[in-house]
Amino acid sequence: MRSVGLSVALVLLMAGAAVGGEKIVISHRGASAYLPEHTIEAYTAAHIMGADYIEPDLVMTKDKRFICLHDIHLEATTNVEERFPDRKRDDGRWYAADFTLAEVKQLNVHERLNNRFPVGMSRFEVPTFEEMIELIQGLNATRGRDAGIYPELKNPAWHRGEGLAMEEPFLEVVGRYGYKGKDARIFVQCFEPKTLDMLRNELGSELPQILLLGSSSVKAGMASAESLAQAAKYADGIGPDKLSIEQDPDLVRRAHACGLAVHPYTLRADSLPSTYKTFDDELRQFYVTYDVDGLFTDFPDKAAAFLAGL
Ligand code: G3P
Ligand code: CA
Repeated sequence: MRSVGLSVALVLLMAGAAVGGEKIVISHRGASAYLPEHTIEAYTAAHIMGADYIEPDLVMTKDKRFICLHDIHLEATTNVEERFPDRKRDDGRWYAADFTLAEVKQLNVHERLNNRFPVGMSRFEVPTFEEMIELIQGLNATRGRDAGIYPELKNPAWHRGEGLAMEEPFLEVVGRYGYKGKDARIFVQCFEPKTLDMLRNELGSELPQILLLGSSSVKAGMASAESLAQAAKYADGIGPDKLSIEQDPDLVRRAHACGLAVHPYTLRADSLPSTYKTFDDELRQFYVTYDVDGLFTDFPDKAAAFLAGL
């Protein structure tokens, strides 16, 4: 029989394997500082800027296709109000779940933030998840890199209520493109523990999974040592908002002790907190002082350059 001491040592070794290794740059919504978020152009730039992983947020259309979009609504980043003025619900919102993919493809995408890519310049469209994957795998082939993808399933409980369950179709799509097993170049992220638990423990997915934690979840106790130990039953890491780490840096140690990697969101050079003089100072604080394993940033070029200089 294995001794208790040996068991503890094995757990720590496994934890080290999960959280150790190279620190990574996760390009948030593509290189969204430079090009409209969640467009093929923004994902391409992220790849060329050296992102290790590139993030598509995913929602579903009425005809059950995954599209790359942050919101379940279309109006914040597309011209849906102008193109389909009569298709809003009673709450005044245009839901992606009410549109077919063919209709979504008629929309123009524009940048969300008004200090970034000028609205009305050039033309961008909403990519499907498959188009995003094929782009990254194509660039990996032509550029001799192995950038991963970091898809987020947005609001799975809400989608389920609309008759659009996401979990099984998601595994079908990524499996079709070769993302299988624990070593696949993918992190699957979600704010809803139930979805990650279902993917891992009901549907048998071994893909690396990240539980996202918003500030309210952290305040509700989801970053306690006990909760993190529970999360380790279906997740390989956590993605907390960056302020939760600033307020409680020990959160990183507690997660690492459970074998969970830590990937906070979102670092932005164009909205630098006043506590930092430069973006490199903020990057150093997270990568080096807090010892996170990776981070989400709209500026993958700056994060990659920072890590290269360490
Ligand atoms: O997925 C990490 C981070 O992107 C979560 O925030 O709102 O940008 O999807 P959000
Ligand atoms: Ca996201």
